[in-house]
Amino acid sequence: MSSSFNAEIFVREEIKGLTPYNPDVYPECVKLDANENPYPFPKDIQERICRALGTETFTRYPDAMAGKLVHEICTCYGLDPNQVMLGNGSDELIQNLMLTFGAGNRVVIAVPTFSMYGIHARVAGAEIVEVPRDRNFDLVVNEIVQAGSGAGLVVICSPNNPSGNSATTEQLIAILEGCCHCPVVVDQAYLEFGGTDMQPLLAEYDNLVILRTFSKAFGLAGLRVGYLFANPGLLNFLFKVKQPFNLNNFSQAAAREVLRNRDLFAWQVAQITGAKEKLYQALQDMPGIQVYPSDTNYLLFATSAPANEVYKGLLQEKVLIRNFGDPLLARYLRVTVGTPEENKIFLRALRKVIDTLGEKKND
Ligand SMILES: Cc1ncc(COP(=O)(O)O)c(C=O)c1O
Repeated sequence: MSSSFNAEIFVREEIKGLTPYNPDVYPECVKLDANENPYPFPKDIQERICRALGTETFTRYPDAMAGKLVHEICTCYGLDPNQVMLGNGSDELIQNLMLTFGAGNRVVIAVPTFSMYGIHARVAGAEIVEVPRDRNFDLVVNEIVQAGSGAGLVVICSPNNPSGNSATTEQLIAILEGCCHCPVVVDQAYLEFGGTDMQPLLAEYDNLVILRTFSKAFGLAGLRVGYLFANPGLLNFLFKVKQPFNLNNFSQAAAREVLRNRDLFAWQVAQITGAKEKLYQALQDMPGIQVYPSDTNYLLFATSAPANEVYKGLLQEKVLIRNFGDPLLARYLRVTVGTPEENKIFLRALRKVIDTLGEKKND
């Protein structure tokens, strides 16, 4: 091995400052940290997916444009095939958006929000402008519009991760019209659980991009299937940047079966939503906790004891929730709604941890 080689000198400063995304794994814990669907994947659909596989699923490259899945999505959502693009999770679509519109441009992000927007923007070499949400995590539209003037891309998450609240149609229209008609991405990863569907605006706004995913309500986080709606003129550029065979054969087949059987998932979503209401109430009744209303399958809460210690205490009780590295979220934790049994375990553990930490207050 050559000892004179130094990789660092070839790497941009923005990349050096990043931390690899490598979340800790705690197999012994109840897993309520990643907003996944907590129910077992329906056996029936699993069997249908397996029956749809053939030898060519393994030996041949997948359809680069995922034509059959695009067709299924169009049937389901009333779109034209030239308005849809598939990704290896919506994470990949976010990356493609940043590479296409963010690189060398300004990217405006309403924060706090999903961390991957900032990470992909940095990797793409964009200039990031963060516009803080207000104290209730609502969008500050005039500041977004101001920052968005001359920007390459504006990113809004609705419902927002981690705060759980949603943008209104009026807010989004103000942003779409105010930001010099630059591309505006609305990430609707949690739309099946609540919030306003922004798809009707697609017909009117050529600069609107909507992100969706099969990872949350549809229980396919492990297979990495995200999708995007936009107008053909904008999509045309994203297709130039996309990896050729980004969505594998197995995931394409699985997502098709899921869409054909989406009623089954609607039932799970109803269960999760019901459980969320109960969890919200229980957290609201707990001293030392301030919980926020949510249109999603997770709840954000602030703790009067230091959040990091609450998080660690829960880990000792074998419950994993989300603690944030983001200074804007230092007082907060996020819990995914689990099955009723998992939620009980979480609440019992949280009560114990809060009691143990007693009156210890945030600095
Ligand atoms: C708002 C939001 N967008 C996108 C994603 C990524 O989804 P995917 O699994 O489709 O990459 C997540 C995952 O947590 C998310 O919370």
